[in-house]
Amino acid sequence: MQKENEWKSMMDAPVIKGEIPGEKSKLMLKEQELYETSSRTYTDTFKIGVNYGKNATIVDVDGNVFIDLFSGVSVLNMGHANPDVLKAITEQASRITHITEVPTEARIAFLKTLNSTLPGKMRDNSKVFTTVTGGDACELAIQLSRLITKKKVIIAFGGSYHGIAGNIVSTTANFHYRDNSFNSYTNTYHIPFPYPYRFPIKSENEDISKTVIDYLEYLIKDPYSGIGSVAGVMVEPIQGEGGYVVPPDNFMPMLAESTKKLGVPLIVDEIQTGMGRTGKIWASEHSRITPDIMCISKSVGGGIPISMIAYHKEYDVEIPKAFHLGTFRANPVGLAAGNVILNKLKNEEFLNEVKRKGKFIMEKLISLQEKSKFIGDVRGKGLMIGVEFVRDKKSREPNSELAMKIKNRMFNNGVLIHTCGHFANVIRFMPPLTIEMKLLEKSMEIFEKSLYQESS
Ligand SMILES: Cc1ncc(COP(=O)(O)O)c(C=O)c1O
Repeated sequence: MQKENEWKSMMDAPVIKGEIPGEKSKLMLKEQELYETSSRTYTDTFKIGVNYGKNATIVDVDGNVFIDLFSGVSVLNMGHANPDVLKAITEQASRITHITEVPTEARIAFLKTLNSTLPGKMRDNSKVFTTVTGGDACELAIQLSRLITKKKVIIAFGGSYHGIAGNIVSTTANFHYRDNSFNSYTNTYHIPFPYPYRFPIKSENEDISKTVIDYLEYLIKDPYSGIGSVAGVMVEPIQGEGGYVVPPDNFMPMLAESTKKLGVPLIVDEIQTGMGRTGKIWASEHSRITPDIMCISKSVGGGIPISMIAYHKEYDVEIPKAFHLGTFRANPVGLAAGNVILNKLKNEEFLNEVKRKGKFIMEKLISLQEKSKFIGDVRGKGLMIGVEFVRDKKSREPNSELAMKIKNRMFNNGVLIHTCGHFANVIRFMPPLTIEMKLLEKSMEIFEKSLYQESS
């Protein structure tokens, strides 16, 4: 196995040998189509069969080498085949791969390390409840806040994404997911997120955070507000699928203060923002808040699907046995990977490097924004950066077609990148945090070229 200091991306990337998909990829995609549901999404964008990955690069079955700015939707924050993570995975897999909740050394080590990283006053004050997917963790989070408060209504935000399986879809804002779930999504209520570029309420009040908090407090305090009694407020500190939307700096502290004052649990979904993505282990650390319940998943298992919530210790007495059950709760292999990953993230210099790389992308994007009439907004923290496309800067009309074209052009030029946003008009940069500067520089050159490339 490779040592960490020898491990790096395929530095000659991107290497595109011919038409994409190549012959072998075409065959794999055809066979997939034969056997697997046609309700797939990522294969519409990334039309390749994958052979292997190495840090921030992916090699397809035809030998093409892509730069990965996607990280499997922010799951491979430590890069593909990170030697330390691989070592933890293979060592644990050779000992035991599954044993329900019965403790293993990997489980205990993980729980201790996770506790040592938790934001604000959560450290030494929390319990952890393990689940499998991100949506599963969010589902448990709302179930717990309802149990604790004996109330039903969850307030979530426009643009939010917390998963689509089961009840949690009722907190996810996008109609598409909600309509196709055929759930009766009662007992959730969405209010506008303080989205600086597209805040829907025009008011004298320039402070959009205050507008949102005033409205939230009215909904919770006024028995005639019409939403019923509130069990929790659920928020992403930076919205992910909703468009990499960074709220004003004062928003999260105001929200934490307001929910505390009103005695409503604050559920912070760190599934996409966590694990070093924003240049801190948890995005909550930027605003120095203490979530009451925090949802964790994606990169925590280094590619092995595990998830969990951390919550106030005091809530523990209320929780009955078998409150939330499942066969696969926190696989020891994923926990062993998570322990190594969290320990790496505790290194301040590693996180400073994430910030430096993010700054490089932001500066490049801002300089392109000055020249391009189609780049309406550039925003982000750490290596969670979004660029929003518009038809023109005055009308701010979303330009989903251009975002889609750029995504496809970048793919054809050897870079995996994805969109997000209310209108799928935002391109998001979420490379592995371990990506080399040289590959980031190449990626930005390809982004610039794709912005002006007229052919496709
Ligand atoms: C913030 C956030 N919460 C929850 C989820 C759902 O996670 P999963 O897809 O693992 O169910 C996602 C997925 O992208 C997410 O970004």
